[in-house]
Amino acid sequence: MSTNALVDRFGRRIDYLRLSVTDRCDLRCSYCMPQGFKDYEEPEDWLRFDEIVRLIALFARHGLQRVRLTGGEPLLRGRLVDLVRQIKAIPGISDLSLSTNGTHLARHAASLRAAGVDRLNVSLDTLNRERFCSITHRDALDDVLRGLRDARAAGFTRIKINMVWLAGGNNDELDAMIDFCRQQHFVLRLIETMPIGATGRASRYGSLQPHIAELRQRFHLVDGVVAGGGPARYLVDPESDFSIGFITPLSQHFCASCNRVRMTVDGTLQLCLGQEDQVAFRPLLRGGADDAELDAVLRAAIERKPERHEFNEAPGKVVRFMSMTGG
Ligand code: 5AD
Ligand code: SF4
Repeated sequence: MSTNALVDRFGRRIDYLRLSVTDRCDLRCSYCMPQGFKDYEEPEDWLRFDEIVRLIALFARHGLQRVRLTGGEPLLRGRLVDLVRQIKAIPGISDLSLSTNGTHLARHAASLRAAGVDRLNVSLDTLNRERFCSITHRDALDDVLRGLRDARAAGFTRIKINMVWLAGGNNDELDAMIDFCRQQHFVLRLIETMPIGATGRASRYGSLQPHIAELRQRFHLVDGVVAGGGPARYLVDPESDFSIGFITPLSQHFCASCNRVRMTVDGTLQLCLGQEDQVAFRPLLRGGADDAELDAVLRAAIERKPERHEFNEAPGKVVRFMSMTGG
């Protein structure tokens, strides 16, 4: 570990950055963005690639190892492949991943892979076309399935499928999703809905805990590890490559081992997904700050990282929508 590693007040080493490259999205998942939402950041306020690369390089000198590109929908950002190449070239960055809704994946999969994206997470809450329309408000299931197929063909392995667990919305599809992921060699991950924004709060929460126990028994799964920087707990099948992950921010929070911060498209560092603590980097970058100044602000920011979210105690706290921060 580098001697100047970023360690917060609670002894957590921050080595993972989730970078939102756009707050735009071509879907409107009911738990994420409101229907008529148009209040996007202006292009002149988006961090430019040179600004992003400067920040990540600075961060990497303090031990940052992993970067995930998120959105909104990251594939809507122009020339993303160029950014991938530039981030991959930064010394110290050993893992570059991408979270996408998959609608444009077919077109981009091969070039993303060639440019150096190591791992892919694709959001998919249902395999049913009508239900996909009602959750995302677009008839795009076939595009996502084509994207997944092309991503596999492009050489992505162990693709993770993120399924937001919607009580009364899609949880009757668990077995179908398991079959699909088994056949395709995808890693299924179930995610508890978080009360982020009015949209997140409006969606019905269901604890994953009973299902963890039930699936363990039914499929003879054991605790296991799957590559990735995140908080998912995995059950794996010792006899095959089948594994299933659980992201349980509400029923069993994992803040004590949090290793990440998030950067929004306008250059605001978000210190916790479940709190509003943030530091604006764009004014510094555009105001001529030198590396020493940026360094000092970064250190001070990490010092202020909150201990944990309060999704259970104070569910009304986070007013921004998930699409603004990236998941
Ligand atoms: N709760 C949990 N997950 C959410 N996502 C978006 N909004 C929420 C929410 N309120 C997920 C998406 C995607 C990732 C980027 O974040 O489904 O998998
Ligand atoms: Fe878009 Fe992802 Fe939000 Fe759905 S969850 S609206 S795909 S950013």
